[in-house]
Amino acid sequence: MRRLIRFGVSLDNDLLDKFDKLIKQENYTNRSEAIRDLIREKLVKKEWIGNKEVTGAITLVYDHHKRELLNSLIDIQHDFHHLIVSSQHIHVDHDNCLEIIVVKGKPREVEKLANMMKAAKGVKYGALSMATTGKQLK
Ligand code: NI
Repeated sequence: MRRLIRFGVSLDNDLLDKFDKLIKQENYTNRSEAIRDLIREKLVKKEWIGNKEVTGAITLVYDHHKRELLNSLIDIQHDFHHLIVSSQHIHVDHDNCLEIIVVKGKPREVEKLANMMKAAKGVKYGALSMATTGKQLK
């Protein structure tokens, strides 16, 4: 059975002041919720080191006039189709496209896919947001 446990934490007052300022900026209403999120963040990071399934989002910004780039991004996605849950394409302006690719799979493979897309010649911005399936978190 899950239950709420209270525990004390000893901290240097200077470090606690910094923490309180930080969580205030991030709109936390109390320290407990901020500490819970820090723990979850750490656990998600650990998931990405392991071999269990993870989720994430790859964000790309590129110029769609570069047709070769467009083709290679599509080729890469087809090579890794088993990892791709969905993708969304937004025409930001006349030249630029924003693509968000939702991924699910083993961390090494997802990272490989993200790195290949980020490294494609002409991609202006590429980032992998590392998330979780939530199964390992309560
Ligand atoms: Ni577009």
